[in-house]
Amino acid sequence: MRTYLVTGGAGFIGSNYIHYMFRKYDNEIKIINVDCLTYAGNLENLKEVENRDNYEFCKVDICDSEAINRIFQENEIDRVVHFAAESHVDRSIKNPDVFIKTNVLGTLVMLNAAKAAWELPDGTYKPDKKFLHVSTDEVYGSLEEEGTFFYETTPIDPHSPYSASKASSDMLVKSYIDTYHFPANITNCSNNYGPYQFPEKLIPLIINNALQGKKLPVYGDGKNVRDWLYVEDHAKAIDMVQEKGRIGQRYNIGGHNEKQNIEIINIILETLQDMLPEGDPRKELVSKDLITYVEDRKGHDRRYAIAPDKIRKEIGWYPETMFKEGIRKTIAWFFEHEDWMKNVTSGDYQKYYEEMYK
Ligand code: NAD
Ligand code: DAU
Repeated sequence: MRTYLVTGGAGFIGSNYIHYMFRKYDNEIKIINVDCLTYAGNLENLKEVENRDNYEFCKVDICDSEAINRIFQENEIDRVVHFAAESHVDRSIKNPDVFIKTNVLGTLVMLNAAKAAWELPDGTYKPDKKFLHVSTDEVYGSLEEEGTFFYETTPIDPHSPYSASKASSDMLVKSYIDTYHFPANITNCSNNYGPYQFPEKLIPLIINNALQGKKLPVYGDGKNVRDWLYVEDHAKAIDMVQEKGRIGQRYNIGGHNEKQNIEIINIILETLQDMLPEGDPRKELVSKDLITYVEDRKGHDRRYAIAPDKIRKEIGWYPETMFKEGIRKTIAWFFEHEDWMKNVTSGDYQKYYEEMYK
C-alpha cells in the first residue's frame, strides 16, 4: 500500500484533495495528514475520513524539523504532497514574517526530511518516491496585456510577500531537483474555488456576506482578472502529475476561465437569487446594491491567466467543471453547510474582518 504524506491537509485545497484521493483509491492508499491547524486549518473539513484505518492526522508544524523527520523515520513515505502554507495575499501584506517562515523555511524542512529518508548511499533515490510542491500562478506576477498567458517558461516576477514566499519555495524545490536530482515536481495553479474555502477569499466571502445582506467589498475598480478553477479539478491534476508527470518538471494548472472580479460577484448574486427558494428570507437580502467599491489592495496584480497546454499535452489533464456548474455546486455546498460557515466565522474571523475592512 502506497503511503502519502500530505501537508496542510486540513486547509481548503488539502482537504478537498484528501477526499478526492479516498474517493479514487479507497483502501489502496494510506494518507498521513500533517497540519499545525492555523486559523485556516479545520478538522471539520475531514470528519468523513477521520475514522478510516488508512488515514492518520498529525498536528505538527512543518517548520519543526525533528517532528517531520520522525514521521519519515516511523513511516515508509512514498509520496509527499506539500500544500501547507500561509495562503492569503492580504494577510501577507500586513504580516509577511510568518509567510517566509512557513512557506520558505517549512518547505526547506520538508525537502530535507524527504531527501534524508529517500536518498541512497550512491546519491540515487529509493524507487518510486515523489515529492509534489503545490504552488501558484502568482509567482509569475501580473499580465497587463489581453491575450497573454503564463507559461512554465514565463519568468518569475512576484509582487506580494505571499507570492515572493511561494516563488522562493519554488526555487528551493528547483534547486533540489537540479543539484541533488531530487524526485520532485512543481505545480503552479490558478485561483481555486469550491467547498471548504475559508471566507477571507473572494468567492466564499461574497457568498457569506450576500446571504446576510452585508456589504460586498470590491477592491479598486473591480476589473482585476483571475482565472478560476474548481478545486476538484485541481486535486485531479495533482494526482495526475504525480502519476504521469516527468520528474523534475513544472506544470501549470488552470482552466482558461478568466473573469473580472465584478463579473464573479454578479454571477454569484444571480446564482444565489436563482437557487434560493421563494419565501426564503435571504432572497430579500441578496442584492447588487450591496456592492461597495473599497480601497485597492496594495500592489494588486491586474490579471492572471494560465496556459495549461503542457499538462494537457503531456498528461492528458483538462478542467472538467465549467464555472457555471462549479459555482452552483459551491453555493449548494454552502447552503448545506451553514454550521461550517458559522463555526469558521466565529471568534478570530470577526477580528480579522473588522481590521481588514474597517
Ligand atoms: P489554506 O490557507 O486554506 O490552508 C493551508 C493549510 O496549511 C491549513 O490547514 C493550515 O493549518 C496549514 N498550515 C499553515 N501553516 C502551517 C505550518 N507551519 N505547518 C503545518 N501546517 C500549516 O490554503 P489553500 O488555499 O488550501 O492552499 C493550499 C496550497 O495551495 C498553498 O500552498 C497555496 O499556496 C497553494 N495554492 C492555492 C490556491 C488557491 O486558490 N487557494 C491556488 C494555487 C495554489
Ligand atoms: O492565483 C492563485 C492564488 O489565488 C493563490 O495562490 C492564493 O493562495 C489565493 O488566495 C488566491 O489569491 P488571490 O489574491 O487572487 O485571491 P483572493 O480571493 O484573495 O482575491 C481574488 C480577487 O478578488 C483579487 O483580485 C482581490 C479581489 N478581492 C478579494 C477580496 C478578499 C476583492 O475585490 N474583495 C475582497 O474582499
